Amino acid sequence: MDYKVRTKIARIVVDDKVPVDSEVTILGLVRTARIGKGVAFVEVNDGSCMGNIQGVVTNPDEFPVLEKILTGASVRMKGRLILSQGKGQKYEVAVQSINLIGEADSSYPLQKKRHSLEFLREIAHLRVRTNTFGAVNRIRSKLSYAIHTYFQERGFYYIHTPILSASDCEGAGDLFTVTTLDLLKPPIKEGQVDWNEDFFAQQVYLSVSGQFESEVAALALGDVYNFGPTFRAENSNTARHASEFWMIEPEMAWAELEDDMDLAEDFLKWLFQFALEKCSDEMDFFGKWVDKEARQTLESVVNAEFERITYTEAQEILVKCGEKFEYPVGWGQDMQTEHERYLTEKKFKRPVIVYDYPAEIKSFYMRANDDGKTVRGMDVLVPRVGEIIGGSQREERYDVLLDQAKRHGIPNIENYDWYFDLRKYGSAPHSGFGLGYDRVVMYITGMANIRDVQPFPRVPRWAKF
Ligand code: 4AD
Ligand code: MG
Repeated sequence: MDYKVRTKIARIVVDDKVPVDSEVTILGLVRTARIGKGVAFVEVNDGSCMGNIQGVVTNPDEFPVLEKILTGASVRMKGRLILSQGKGQKYEVAVQSINLIGEADSSYPLQKKRHSLEFLREIAHLRVRTNTFGAVNRIRSKLSYAIHTYFQERGFYYIHTPILSASDCEGAGDLFTVTTLDLLKPPIKEGQVDWNEDFFAQQVYLSVSGQFESEVAALALGDVYNFGPTFRAENSNTARHASEFWMIEPEMAWAELEDDMDLAEDFLKWLFQFALEKCSDEMDFFGKWVDKEARQTLESVVNAEFERITYTEAQEILVKCGEKFEYPVGWGQDMQTEHERYLTEKKFKRPVIVYDYPAEIKSFYMRANDDGKTVRGMDVLVPRVGEIIGGSQREERYDVLLDQAKRHGIPNIENYDWYFDLRKYGSAPHSGFGLGYDRVVMYITGMANIRDVQPFPRVPRWAKF
């Protein structure tokens, strides 16, 4: 069979590029099939877009195979493109021949009805065939392209930072170790595992962030970004934490925290505008089935200025607001989702950038302010999702950085000699941030759980598929 003659459904229903009366060959999966008296209807989706195309068979008796063409089967339909008589679609195919390529019997789990998101998570190998997960995967692809476009058009170079890493960038210790040691008989030296015997002759992890390597690149190439998978072994079973997620990390030499905040705001607004303009089908779908406000939310953000407040101001607001929080508020406290949501949803009703955090609750690499208490870190918070971006101006002074690393109790400082070298040879102010890709997809689509915006989520006790 010649599969190359296939007409993608998107060419017909989205691009409107296939003239009426053309011969078309549709290859796809059956959504529904109905055989009536003297006519059969077979609705097919081929994944190229949200829309299906309906095949109309006016001589069903000549195709006994129709009996076996059930929901979920893969088929080939050849025929003529015609304007539809029915409501709801512009075109249909007057079928001349139909072949069953791969059967699906009545045990196929995706029969035509609404399924719960929880049920669909258990069948991640099939859920991508549903409208919702088709839309999620298509918008992920389009937004990834948009992200590269944004940075490439602005002269940022794309850096491929390593996934295997010996450093714990965030210093939080939430690391997955990668090892080839025999777990039943690991080499022991002085009561500890002797990592010197392991594959890399040192302990190596899945990277929690490509930031350090991007700093290296920024201090050579100027403006850079990385965009890839990161891994965190935090045992948080929440709707916004995954053990594997993608992050976009721009890093700019000759840039201070204000420049970093400006970039974050501009980038997010640009991305939202892209979703509104270039992902219309998906946005309409999410607006109809997932979150009625999906479009308005993005439109309002594109046109609003983000609120910028210091951590100290944020705590004053939280202390005075009279809201009952589960976690304590006040200077020195870490900000929890409930606090982030109060600020963005109730107080300011738009994205908020909080900056200048206490040194103790942020990473050692953030630049110290002159007050001796706070550092130049910033988080971008958005309604519903909370923290979507974390970033900072980096400490570029050798002695200050060393002092901070010691105060934070960073183990094996000698492993970071190369990172400190950046402050020894041609140091320069530089800044960057990390945008959680899956969280921004949640925000754009209105999907409430990170498990439903990733094709194959990895969370504590779940790595199936
Ligand atoms: O705030 P984080 O930990 O910052 C960093 O990793 C910095 N090294 C980034 C940088 O400055 N280059 O993570 C950045 C973002 C968060 O704001 C959040 O959106 C996302 O990554 N994120 C997660 N997303 C899903 N699941 C998790 N477990 C996440 N942890 C962080
Ligand atoms: Mg953070």
